[in-house]
Amino acid sequence: MEDTLAVYPGSFDPMTCGHLDIVRRGLTVFDRIRVAVAYNKDKVGSGLFTPDERVAMIREVSSEFGDRVTVDSFSGLLVEYCRKVKAGTIIRGLRAVADFEYEFQMTMMNRHMAPDVETVFLMADQDHFYTSSSLIREVIALGGHAPKLVPELIEKELIKKFRP
Ligand code: COA
Repeated sequence: MEDTLAVYPGSFDPMTCGHLDIVRRGLTVFDRIRVAVAYNKDKVGSGLFTPDERVAMIREVSSEFGDRVTVDSFSGLLVEYCRKVKAGTIIRGLRAVADFEYEFQMTMMNRHMAPDVETVFLMADQDHFYTSSSLIREVIALGGHAPKLVPELIEKELIKKFRP
């Protein structure tokens, strides 16, 4: 039987422990996961980290999973990217109920464009229900710490950006 490959897309600016938790859970269901950093090629400078920086950091913090996890970036439609890499599934993480409406809309639109690509939802661990990349960015920028919410390597990179 062929390996199952799922794409886990997001902006990952930066990846948090909550994202890593979803990757870990995804690997109990799929053989391989492609973490895909989505960026808008007309607004490349708009995030804190460049797409290449995000990819490099994700590679480092997901190295514990070996070659079952690969990392890439893409610009354009997610469903086109899934077709390009021959992935039949998109993984999305769900945190609080507030995520549902947005995820529902995205899933329906993706299904409209690509009925052959299925979206599956994995529930984040409760420790990560109320975290997000922008909240963590804000905490570090204001001199705080986010232990257990962001991998140590990424916390160091955040500190370098905000307090060079
Ligand atoms: N733990 C902690 N935080 C999490 C998380 C988790 N498990 N899952 C999501 N988050 C946070 C993210 O850090 C992010 O926080 P921020 O807004 O503070 O930066 C927030 O939740 C939203 O992240 P995410 O759900 O990954 O959405 P996104 O905006 O990063 O990604 C795309 C959305 C990239 C998947 C979507 O825009 C897309 O598919 N783009 C490609 C273009 C396309 O196809 N468009 C049509 C779509 S229908």
